[in-house]
Amino acid sequence: MIHFFCLACLLADSVFSDRFAAPINTNDRPIIGVLAQDVFNATPQRNAYIGASYVKFLESAGARVIPLMINRTEDEYRRLFKSINGVLFPGGGVSLESSGYSRTASIFYRLALEANSNGDYFPVWGTCLGFEMLTLLTSGQLLLSHTNTRGVALPLNFTDDYREGRLFREFPEELLKSLATERLTVNSHQWSLTTANFTKSEKLKNFYRVLSTNSDGQNEFVSTLEAYDFPIYATQWHPEKNAFEWNRPYIPHSPRAVETGFHIALFFVNEARKSTHRFPSEEEEEKALIYNYNPEYTGAHTAFQQTYFFH
Ligand SMILES: *[C@@H]1O[C@H](CO)[C@@H](O)[C@H](O)[C@H]1NC(C)=O
Ligand SMILES: *[C@@H]1O[C@H](CO)[C@@H](O)[C@H](O)[C@H]1NC(C)=O
Ligand SMILES: *[C@@H]1O[C@H](CO)[C@@H](O)[C@H](O)[C@H]1NC(C)=O
Repeated sequence: MIHFFCLACLLADSVFSDRFAAPINTNDRPIIGVLAQDVFNATPQRNAYIGASYVKFLESAGARVIPLMINRTEDEYRRLFKSINGVLFPGGGVSLESSGYSRTASIFYRLALEANSNGDYFPVWGTCLGFEMLTLLTSGQLLLSHTNTRGVALPLNFTDDYREGRLFREFPEELLKSLATERLTVNSHQWSLTTANFTKSEKLKNFYRVLSTNSDGQNEFVSTLEAYDFPIYATQWHPEKNAFEWNRPYIPHSPRAVETGFHIALFFVNEARKSTHRFPSEEEEEKALIYNYNPEYTGAHTAFQQTYFFH
C-alpha cells in the first residue's frame, strides 16, 4: 500500500514538473477570451464592455481574441472553454462578489483548475481588478486594503526568488534592470493585497509565488503573482496601457515601457500556444471573434482610447 502510494506521488510529481514544458507541437493560432464587464450606467444597447487595449495587447503577440460575454449559461461557458486557449480578466470597477464579471470569472477559474489538474493546459491572466478577482477566488476571502495608488507608475521591487518563477524568465536582462529601477508599471487601483495579508493567508501563500511587491509609502502590497502549479498569472499593474492608452499623464510610453507590455503579452500568448482547445468548426470560430464588433472612440471622456460595447 505504501509502495503504491509513493509511486502515485512520483507520477504526479513528474506530470507536475512537465506541465510547464513547451509541447512539441505548439498551437500557433491561439484564441484568448477577454472577459467583458458590467457597464455602470447600463442601457439596453450597452450593458457590458471591454477596453480595446486588452485586445490590442494580446493581438500584438500573435493571439486572436473573443469577447467573453457575461450573463451566459454555464453550459455555454463550458462549450466556449473547450474552444479557446486562455482567458484574461481585465481591470475595471465592478463588484468582485456580485457582478456579471465575477460570476463568469469564477466559472472560468473553476474550469481552468479542473482542466489543468487533468493535464489539459489552460492559462489564466488577471490584470488589476482581475488580479484582485483571482486572489478572492483562490483564498475565498476579500483581503484587500485601501492604498494610495490611483494613478502612478512604479518600478517593480522584485522578490528574492522571482527568477525561480516563469513569468520573467525570458525577459531580456536589460529590461529586467529597467523594470527594477524605472517607473514602467502603471498602477491605477484603490485596493491592494498587502504583503502582510497575503502572508497571513495559507491558501494564497501555498498557491502563489510573489514575484514583485510595491509600496504606496505606507503599505507594501503584492504587485505580481504566479501560481506554483498552475499557469495562472496576475499583475496589480497594467501591462496593456503603456503601448495603447494615452489619456492619463502617468502612463509611460518610453521604449522600455512599451517593451515591458510586449514581453508580458508574448509570455501569456506563448502560454496559450500550449493549449490545444479549438472551436468545433471554422464557422463558429469566425462568429465568436471580436472582429465581429467595432470599438468606439471613448478617449474624450474615459480612461480607454477605444471601447467595445456589448448587449
Ligand atoms: C446580467 O444579469 C443581471 C441580473 O441577473 C442584470 O442586472 C444585468 O443587467 C445583466 N447584464 C447583462 C450585460 O446582461
Ligand atoms: C488586511 O489588511 C488590512 C490593513 O491594511 C486590515 O484592515 C484587514 O483586516 C486585513 N484583512 C485580513 C482578513 O487580515
Ligand atoms: C520597494 O521597497 C522598499 C522597501 O519596502 C520601499 O521603501 C519602496 O517604496 C519600494 N519601491 C516601490 C517602487 O514600490
